[in-house]
Amino acid sequence: MAKFCTYLFLILSVTFSTFNLGSSSSSSEADILLSFKASIEDSRKALSSWSNTTSTHYCNWTGIACSSLSVTSINLQKLNLSGELSPSICDLQNLSFLNLADNKFNQSIPLHLSQCSSLETLNLSNNLIWGTIPMQISQFGSLKVLDFSRNYIEGDIPESMGFLKNLQVLNMGSNLLSGDVPAIFMNLTKLAVLDLSENPYLDSEIPESIGELGSLKQLLLHSSGFHGEIPDSFANLRSLTHLDLSQNNLTGEISQGLVSSLKNLVSFDVSQNKLSGSFPNGICNAKGLVNLSPHTNIFSGSIPNTTGECKNLERFQVQNNEFAGDFPYSLWSLPKVKLIRAENNRFSGQIPESISGAVQLEQVQLDNNSFAGKIPQGLGLVKSLYRFSASLNRFYGELPLSFCDSPVMSIVNLSHNSLSGQIPELKKCRKLVSLSLADNSLTGQIPPSLAELPVLTYLDLSANNLTGSIPLGLQNLKLALFNVSFNQLSGKVPYSLISGLPASFLEGNPELCGPGLPTSCSDDPRRHHSGGLTALACALISVAFVVGTAVFVGGFILYRKSSKRNQIGVWRSVFFYPLRITEQDLLIGMDEKSLIGNGGVFGKVYVVSLPSGEQVAVKKLVNFGNQTSKSLKAEVKTLAKIRHKNVVKILGFCHSDESIFLIYEYLQDGSLGDLLSRENFELQWEARLRIAIRVAQALAYLHKDYVPHLLHRNVKSRNILLDANFEPKLTDFALDRIVGEAAFQSTVASEAASSCYNAPECGYSKKATEELDIYSYGVVLLELVTGKQAEQTVSTESLDIVKWVRRRVNITDGVYQVLDPKISPSNQQEMIGVLEIALHCTSVVPEKRPSMVEVVRALQSLESQTIAANSHDLNEEPSIPI
Ligand SMILES: *[C@@H]1O[C@H](CO)[C@@H](O)[C@H](O)[C@H]1NC(C)=O
Ligand SMILES: *[C@@H]1O[C@H](CO)[C@@H](O)[C@H](O)[C@H]1NC(C)=O
Ligand SMILES: *[C@@H]1O[C@H](CO)[C@@H](O)[C@H](O)[C@H]1NC(C)=O
Ligand SMILES: *[C@@H]1O[C@H](CO)[C@@H](O)[C@H](O)[C@H]1NC(C)=O
Ligand SMILES: *[C@@H]1O[C@H](CO)[C@@H](O)[C@H](O)[C@H]1NC(C)=O
Ligand SMILES: *[C@@H]1O[C@H](CO)[C@@H](O)[C@H](O)[C@H]1NC(C)=O
Ligand SMILES: *[C@@H]1O[C@H](CO)[C@@H](O)[C@H](O)[C@H]1NC(C)=O
Ligand SMILES: *[C@@H]1O[C@H](CO)[C@@H](O)[C@H](O)[C@H]1NC(C)=O
Ligand SMILES: *[C@@H]1O[C@H](CO)[C@@H](O)[C@H](O)[C@H]1NC(C)=O
Ligand SMILES: *[C@@H]1O[C@H](CO)[C@@H](O)[C@H](O)[C@H]1NC(C)=O
Repeated sequence: MAKFCTYLFLILSVTFSTFNLGSSSSSSEADILLSFKASIEDSRKALSSWSNTTSTHYCNWTGIACSSLSVTSINLQKLNLSGELSPSICDLQNLSFLNLADNKFNQSIPLHLSQCSSLETLNLSNNLIWGTIPMQISQFGSLKVLDFSRNYIEGDIPESMGFLKNLQVLNMGSNLLSGDVPAIFMNLTKLAVLDLSENPYLDSEIPESIGELGSLKQLLLHSSGFHGEIPDSFANLRSLTHLDLSQNNLTGEISQGLVSSLKNLVSFDVSQNKLSGSFPNGICNAKGLVNLSPHTNIFSGSIPNTTGECKNLERFQVQNNEFAGDFPYSLWSLPKVKLIRAENNRFSGQIPESISGAVQLEQVQLDNNSFAGKIPQGLGLVKSLYRFSASLNRFYGELPLSFCDSPVMSIVNLSHNSLSGQIPELKKCRKLVSLSLADNSLTGQIPPSLAELPVLTYLDLSANNLTGSIPLGLQNLKLALFNVSFNQLSGKVPYSLISGLPASFLEGNPELCGPGLPTSCSDDPRRHHSGGLTALACALISVAFVVGTAVFVGGFILYRKSSKRNQIGVWRSVFFYPLRITEQDLLIGMDEKSLIGNGGVFGKVYVVSLPSGEQVAVKKLVNFGNQTSKSLKAEVKTLAKIRHKNVVKILGFCHSDESIFLIYEYLQDGSLGDLLSRENFELQWEARLRIAIRVAQALAYLHKDYVPHLLHRNVKSRNILLDANFEPKLTDFALDRIVGEAAFQSTVASEAASSCYNAPECGYSKKATEELDIYSYGVVLLELVTGKQAEQTVSTESLDIVKWVRRRVNITDGVYQVLDPKISPSNQQEMIGVLEIALHCTSVVPEKRPSMVEVVRALQSLESQTIAANSHDLNEEPSIPI
């Protein structure tokens, strides 16, 4: 028996080794990968294709790339991997690229990977690597790219790193390195990228030897505790494109030498240091501009070609230093420059008319310097400019008529200068959010055209010499700040313009009169109608449209043609649930008594009882007839297929040439809007937060998960129905798909101006976006936090909740004034958290609104933990225009 076994074993092992010889390299590479996998924890089963049981060749496994059937590259970025990095991986003879970035590997620097003889790139960025850099790091001598950024590596940088002389990229950014950076760079001659940024415990001068790195393109040393001067050797960095030395403790001046290394730069950032002195003459001089003085006016339509230096410069940041002297004026007309920041220095000089040549300029910040001269006309020709901030300088003269002509301009701050003349009519900058012209010597009237800027939110005209009355139209804006104090304004102040704002924003205008002011108006009828009108419009829009619990469950589709053509025209109906009702039953059931919505934007809503005794809600839409029966059916079917517990089900529809009846499940407990409108409205905080989360989930589902992606386009509390347990369901969604875009637009346009659920950009953009839904959702959140209806009339003045809240949170402790007092103070932190989310959702600038997915996540984390109050950070826009 024993003998037989030995024999069998021999046969088997011979067979096995024969097999092995046959495909030695390939089977062993698969084994190497499997043994590497064996020590890794793969919680998401991201490496499930790495298996010897499937027929997939290992070169086709997740993250593997081969050359001639031999593994050369492993890229397992962002798979939440943890566990051990087995040295077995180095048995892959030809492995040259290993990227394990954005995982959870928790260990010291894996020196054993230096045994990988062909390895050129090792990327362990954003893991949990800890410990010091061992002397033996020099074993990685053959590496070209080493990225250990965003880990927890601490201690000194060892001299032995100087032996990594093949390195082209060295990134040790965002770690906990400390001490002095040794002079290790003279032998790293191939280095193109050196990143030691965000190591706050470094305490070092910038090594002179960095200046020897002639191939260096990117030098990133920001936020790392560097002090002393910028070495003169930097003059040799001729290839440099990105230089970031910001947020250190650097002192001294910018040498002529450094300026010569600027010529090829794309980004230059030395902000937030203690640098001083003036910029050397001739920096970035463009050929053809060299001999022009900064005062020459070359604004004449044709801009000289800037074929000179710095032609690639996009970002120039020198703010928060102690620089003085004339600001390098050639910067103003560079063809690619996007960002110029020089605030909080002592720069002098003028902005030349040639600024019109900076055709890509987006942001200029010069506040708190000694710039002088006039605001150039050329500014209006820069169509990409969205921020121009130059407060606390010595600009004088009149504002050019065109200064705000950039179609994307959103922040203008020229406060605390010596500007005179009138404020020009600003009509072209339709995206202007913040305008401050405070503390100048402006005269004349406040231009009424300001009221036509749809998103203007912060307006500070205080401390000027303005006369005349306050334009009535301004009350149509959602102004969160309106300061006209210390002018010579006169006449009546529209109450709704200033309600909720501090009285000090009007003081110093002895001839103003009105409620809350020392002088009351002589002819005081006190009220005017515009507020009431808005409220009326709002009331009309708010449809009580109520739908109820699921009547039937099931999923089959029943398609029937009407047999009652003769009596009531040609009706076609499609039921997605077995409704056992005829069109005639529906029509008969839809009478005045069953009407529950008095006619919304898109049509009336009726409750109809089925023969079985159950009820459905039927919404009657006008058929604009631009859809064929077939496409209409396809569209409704698209909506009816939505299966989400927080979206009302569409049970079917029927339509004729004139009308479309949408049949929904009926929820008899009404809407969130109904609830909010009750005199004695009360709802526990937990229930409110749950409603917020569920509705956000439903919207996130429509936006991102449902195919096709849908927009709701009519989010408001009246369209959030509640069941007996306050479980919310969205209704009235995506009606644009049924009535058609044109009809939807024309209906919406008529209400756009007055509904405060509509985002401000409705005023100038017809595009349907997720951001519009998100804004409307933010308004609902505000209703939940404040316990107030978004639109209502308080003693004949209309309330727009966004304006109301924004005005209060801008004032110290105002945050606590907006929270619903009926909710226990123990929930205050969570309420403030939700308020913060709501303010982000209702941001004036669409790009700043979070996605619904982000909202869901933020709300859920509030639900699970009470967050620390953070009230000073409530407003993403500055409380004082900047
Ligand atoms: C497949 O791999 C597992 C673990 O790596 C090993 O236990 C098993 O014997 C292998 N199966 C085959 C058929 O090679
Ligand atoms: C990898 O998959 C592709 C496409 O599925 C196939 O063409 C290729 O032959 C596979 N490679 C190997 C080595 O099996
Ligand atoms: C590595 O690649 C070379 C050719 O590129 C090949 O000859 C060699 O066999 C490969 N090594 C392994 C272990 O597959
Ligand atoms: C990531 O992995 C850890 C275990 O290593 C696990 O606890 C966690 O749930 C995973 N996270 C995700 C999002 O998969
Ligand atoms: C890393 O592992 C150590 C020991 O296993 C553990 O104490 C530490 O919490 C881990 N770090 C992280 C960030 O998970
Ligand atoms: C390392 O991987 C991260 C994440 O993918 C990436 O951002 C980084 O650029 C990589 N590092 C290098 C040097 O390529
Ligand atoms: C640079 O290389 C030279 C010769 O290869 C060597 O003598 C010197 O020690 C190296 N310097 C550093 C700092 O590594
Ligand atoms: C700059 O130096 C001062 C003391 O000299 C220190 O308090 C401060 O933290 C340093 N700032 C930075 C950004 O390193
Ligand atoms: C300016 O440069 C452009 C290309 O960069 C060239 O086409 C044009 O002829 C130049 N104009 C002058 C006046 O040199
Ligand atoms: C306002 O005008 C008056 C005279 O009209 C002048 O005396 C005063 O200095 C001006 N104030 C400012 C701030 O310019």
